[in-house]
Amino acid sequence: MEELIFNIAERQGKREKTELVLMNIYNLPPIPKIMQETIQLLDNKNTRTVDITKVISKDQSLVSKILTIANSPLYGLQRKVSSIDFAILVLGFSEIRNIISVLSMMESFKNKTDNYLDQKQLWLHSFLTGSACKRIADDLQTGNGGEAFISGFLHDMGISVMHRFFHSNFVQVVNLVNNEGLSYQDAEFEIFGLDHQQVGYFLVDRWNFPKTLTAAILHHHAPENSGDNLDLTSVVHLGDFMTRQLDAGVFEWDKDLVLNEAALKNLGFQSEEAAVKYIAGYKEMFESQKEAARFLS
Ligand SMILES: [Fe+2]
Ligand SMILES: [Fe+2]
Repeated sequence: MEELIFNIAERQGKREKTELVLMNIYNLPPIPKIMQETIQLLDNKNTRTVDITKVISKDQSLVSKILTIANSPLYGLQRKVSSIDFAILVLGFSEIRNIISVLSMMESFKNKTDNYLDQKQLWLHSFLTGSACKRIADDLQTGNGGEAFISGFLHDMGISVMHRFFHSNFVQVVNLVNNEGLSYQDAEFEIFGLDHQQVGYFLVDRWNFPKTLTAAILHHHAPENSGDNLDLTSVVHLGDFMTRQLDAGVFEWDKDLVLNEAALKNLGFQSEEAAVKYIAGYKEMFESQKEAARFLS
């Protein structure tokens, strides 16, 4: 393999170039209108269930997708939910808001698959990671399962942005990995001057998501750098790692992911073995979520 010289100044130049392009992309996937409308309603104290139902019902495919997620093991409901009113009643406004956020983002990120990125695999990976994160946050009581769901869902969105807006660079990354044996992260730095964590961060920061969430996106491969936001970042890191460990979905981009010590400690695991044992308990959940995913795409 030919030795690659990582020139810091050259990398800095590439980074600046990428950032400049990112700043000038005005058609970054916007938050879909229906999501904006619903979130505004959900933020208003005077909103009634019927107002929300009215907006959501404008889109029947959205209705059935919300019901699919509400009935998935993520929420562990005893009774089957078959209407939006009932879903709001049993799950509450904030959970409905999380579900709608994830579904709308799925929609706005839909993109064409080519030889370099299988969008369906990325989508499934995002959904499974989001699901795992919610379950981990609920299970280990790290707080805010909804935010964990969204963070997990969005953690690799930088990859989608790179593919969509920097396609020829993206091709070069994949070629470097396949032909030169570089890790995806090194190849991203080599070509873009930054990695998909930073590109994803750029996007969510622009969408004004809370700091905890943006930090989780920015540091999901190296949670030890996330400072005060280690709780959520650790959850996202573990959820991401689980999909790899349990072969839930195929997502090559994560093949070099290693379980991070700081994250494990933060989540209260005494050893790596303890974490691996815990991870094994998620196998069934992934199977059910994969089944649910068939109705969401
Ligand atoms: Fe990643
Ligand atoms: Fe990932």
